[in-house]
Amino acid sequence: MTLASLVQRARRLTEGRHRAVLGIAGSPGSGKSTLAAALLAALGATALGAATAHVPMDGFHLADVELARLGRLARKGAPDTFDVGGYVALLRRIRADAEEMIYAPAFERTLEQPLAGAVGVPRSARLVLTEGNYLLLDEPGWREVRAELDEVWFCDPHPAVRRERLVARHTAFGKSPADAAAWVAAVDDPNAARVEQTRDHADLVIPGAVLEQLGPP
Ligand SMILES: Nc1ncnc2c1ncn2[C@@H]1O[C@H](COP(=O)(O)OP(=O)(O)O)[C@@H](O)[C@H]1O
Ligand SMILES: [Mg+2]
Repeated sequence: MTLASLVQRARRLTEGRHRAVLGIAGSPGSGKSTLAAALLAALGATALGAATAHVPMDGFHLADVELARLGRLARKGAPDTFDVGGYVALLRRIRADAEEMIYAPAFERTLEQPLAGAVGVPRSARLVLTEGNYLLLDEPGWREVRAELDEVWFCDPHPAVRRERLVARHTAFGKSPADAAAWVAAVDDPNAARVEQTRDHADLVIPGAVLEQLGPP
């Protein structure tokens, strides 16, 4: 397995008649966004415009104001801190393939909040990449996500590498090293444990050795 073979497999998904949606799942910090960016760079543009779009599940984080109201702010990132219904509805719109432009929200890391209208999916996009922790979760709401995806790939890095990068990302976005480590232990690790249980449902598991070849984004 190489990036080239993954690109080829992704391209094959677009050979059918319908718009293809490829899911990339994995734990927090497992390399989903890095892989999506590499695929996007390889499959991005044709003479007809953007041929591939990238819609992160992250954009469906509930806003802090709603998490506070629900009493879930302290475990932001858990499955019940996302608007899964909104995500499924967006995936259905994408698959319906009837609109010139569909806008999706993104998760803005400096704000640590979702931002509406941040990601455009133009009609020209015949492959839509969507990445997130819970694409394979077999639970009410999340179950409906899988039905909208042609394939789901699972990023499976070495656990120690993943954890180290996750802590580094938290500190890069403003947490102290102690706060970052505490957040990973209290919130990210339990979420990762739930994600890891879904690995066997993936169509393809991408090992750490392949993810390492992608290099830092
Ligand atoms: N192959 C790699 N080499 C070095 N750093 C990497 C590599 N892949 C990912 N990273 C870094 O690790 C962190 C987590 O990767 P990311 O793709 O954001 O994971 P996810 O989207 O699954 O949370 C990011 O800070 C990213 O820059
Ligand atoms: Mg990501």
